[in-house]
Amino acid sequence: MSGAPLGAGRHLLSVADLGAEGIEEVLRVADAFVEVGRRPIPKVPALRGRTVVTLFAEESTRTRLSFETAARRLSADVMSCPMAGSSVKKGESLRDTVETVNAMGVDAFVVRHPSAGAPAQVAQWVDAAVVNAGDGWHEHPTQALLDCYTIRQVLAERAGTDPASAGTAGFRGLKVAVVGDVRHSRVARSLVWALGALGARTTVVAPGSLVPTSFDDWPLEAVTHDLDAVLGDVDVCYLLRLQLERGAGAYLPSVREYTSAYGLTARRAALLGEGAVVMHPGPMNRGVEIADDVAELPASTVLRQVRNGVAVRMAVLFLLLGSGGAVEDPAAGGAGD
Ligand code: NCD
Repeated sequence: MSGAPLGAGRHLLSVADLGAEGIEEVLRVADAFVEVGRRPIPKVPALRGRTVVTLFAEESTRTRLSFETAARRLSADVMSCPMAGSSVKKGESLRDTVETVNAMGVDAFVVRHPSAGAPAQVAQWVDAAVVNAGDGWHEHPTQALLDCYTIRQVLAERAGTDPASAGTAGFRGLKVAVVGDVRHSRVARSLVWALGALGARTTVVAPGSLVPTSFDDWPLEAVTHDLDAVLGDVDVCYLLRLQLERGAGAYLPSVREYTSAYGLTARRAALLGEGAVVMHPGPMNRGVEIADDVAELPASTVLRQVRNGVAVRMAVLFLLLGSGGAVEDPAAGGAGD
């Protein structure tokens, strides 16, 4: 995979924009922001005077709040443009809305849109940095980055090492199962590419009706329908949400059938090897892809993923806007304003 570290004048539209080196850099910078998050006042002045706009044309709670929290912790000014209630409803095109907001003086647009490619379009219209916060079934790069950060953190804790000094060596040969509705999942695409760049061995576990038409450019070890057969041999079991609002239900005999074959029930969770972790990007369909009590197990990293999401998004915004290409000490400067 080609790609390059983030820096001034760049966008984050796809994990492929980063390559292994770019992913490693984001994880390294995120370490500093995890430390900031533990301070009594978890704020630094790194982006003071910069303006970040969240432009969300799709429902979202965690991703929008996570980006806005990240921007505020860097002392940026934040504007929120929820498209559902905006002038797009009055007939204005996405382009006119974006150009209008851009004219107010914006440094970064964080864009979520139901259409694949919309953030790349926005990047053509503005001189600001654009971050893809999820486009259709296509990509969700910051989710993949926070998932990789979480895996790296768990591996370091297990080895009793400092995550920063461990780098990403632990991903080489790591066995990951990505389970469920891969067809409709932007999370799966970005995650599988990121894991591939870092040398992990990823297996997709899904019903034949919920896989993409082609896996040609996906760095996969295997594709299987048999979840029970892989669980004993994975380090990470990554569950995807069944995307019923994207029509996943039409590809299945019933949701109950899906759960009986692909849901991580307590019986299946018991097949996982010692030390294996269970991940989910949220929001979870409890009782569908993950059983209620499995979501609460110590092996589940769901809330840790959310927590790390803020630090990872701080790293992305900082690298795009604050560092001028060179990372000195992003966490310097104490509380911002
Ligand atoms: C994901 C999304 O919206 O793509 N959620 C998220 O960003 N936290 C996954 C999902 O909705 O299943």
